[in-house]
Amino acid sequence: MALPPCAQDTAPRHLMSASEPASASASAAVSEQAAALATAPGATQVPVPGATQASVPLAAQVPASTADSLASAVERGESSGQAGGKKPECFFFPSERCSIAPMVDVTDSIFRRMTRLMSRRVMLYTEMIAADALVHEKYHLIDFQEEELPCVLQLGGADPHKLAIATKVGVKHGYSAINLNAGCPSDKVQSGSFGAVLMKDPQHLASCYKAMQEAAGAVPVSVKTRIGVDNLDSVDFTLELIGTLYNAGCRHLIIHARKAWLKGLSPKENRTIPPLDYERVYLLKRTWPDLQITINGGITTLEQCQEHLSKVDGVMLGRAIIDNPYLLTALEQNIWEDAIASPVLAESMPTACTLPAALPPLSREEVLEKLILLGEEVIAAGKPVHLLYRHVLGLFTGCPNARLYRRYLSENMTKRNAPATVIKHAYEAMRRGLRN
Ligand SMILES: Cc1cc2nc3c(=O)[nH]c(=O)nc-3n(C[C@H](O)[C@H](O)[C@H](O)COP(=O)(O)O)c2cc1C
Repeated sequence: MALPPCAQDTAPRHLMSASEPASASASAAVSEQAAALATAPGATQVPVPGATQASVPLAAQVPASTADSLASAVERGESSGQAGGKKPECFFFPSERCSIAPMVDVTDSIFRRMTRLMSRRVMLYTEMIAADALVHEKYHLIDFQEEELPCVLQLGGADPHKLAIATKVGVKHGYSAINLNAGCPSDKVQSGSFGAVLMKDPQHLASCYKAMQEAAGAVPVSVKTRIGVDNLDSVDFTLELIGTLYNAGCRHLIIHARKAWLKGLSPKENRTIPPLDYERVYLLKRTWPDLQITINGGITTLEQCQEHLSKVDGVMLGRAIIDNPYLLTALEQNIWEDAIASPVLAESMPTACTLPAALPPLSREEVLEKLILLGEEVIAAGKPVHLLYRHVLGLFTGCPNARLYRRYLSENMTKRNAPATVIKHAYEAMRRGLRN
């Protein structure tokens, strides 16, 4: 029986035999990847304008006394110590042309390292981190590895003062940018009066943004929101909301193109039931041409990304990457090509905001090989390998017998001491299914 395009004989030999050991050491491969990122042509800068690049802290710990000193600096109304009162040189990095949405319980550090196996270029986001957690010095929540950059820290909160402190912590940690969540409708977030609730008071939302941007100095701050909330869903309301943020100085907005219902719908239903209105988002770009707009919601293919990019500045994908992580390789190869050729875009890119070089095109089998090495790293760090493999259950989406891979992996990756090679066995189960 002919093999599907994703499982042809390009498969590395050691993936085809259960008995063959995994090759090079995991740490070597991953640090090789980090080195490649740092040295690849066109990848000389990780875009953290205003931050000292060489000193991006890896899993940095902000000293225990830092929150206090940050708090008192904010109290005194000082502008960012990190950036010496600078303003961002650019609000929108080239990588933002395509980004992976912040997703609680998904876009953790391990997920972000997984995505970097397939794309150096996409902008990554953390899960939403409550500003309170950083005010209370839970800095481990925002640790990351250098290979995850460029990466944006998303904060949740409604108190400008606490958001400013949390922003400073994020900037000190070395994040490329900071984002405020003004679109999440979960009950927990509502009880803290943040997330989507912030849309109900655009002036207060703008105050939160301003406090954060002042605290961030040269590091840009963006806002992720929706087109409306509850009955505040008219075109006029959306224009007022976005106009208020624009007047406060905000120049990058991520818009989930549907409204949120605060009562009666679960967060999951709030991602499907309110209808998508992409035209409303395009209108925002036409109204404020110098406002960078990233569109989000229901985008699942490269072609859809390309269509949106003819109307707005960036696309953000969430669930599509959970369902089909291999889509990252197509995005890596295709999203930036026309942009690089465009003199208009090249002109608008300050040198501090260079774009990492693209990874070479990779087959799914090559990705699998890299995943095994990363899996070994995860195990060596004392963590169960399913924390990585839960993110790649969809690696073979669209391939014949993908369900055999998925079933084998989900049944076996959570077993005690599951080895990194469990994913190879899942792949072999799929191939055996094809031969039978
Ligand atoms: C599991 C999950 C967790 C999410 N967590 C967050 C979050 O922490 N912050 C946020 O702004 N949006 C969050 N979202 C919403 C996504 O960022 C995105 O706006 C939404 O899924 C629509 O995009 P999509 O259709 O491409 O998935 C979450 C979505 C999912 C599926």
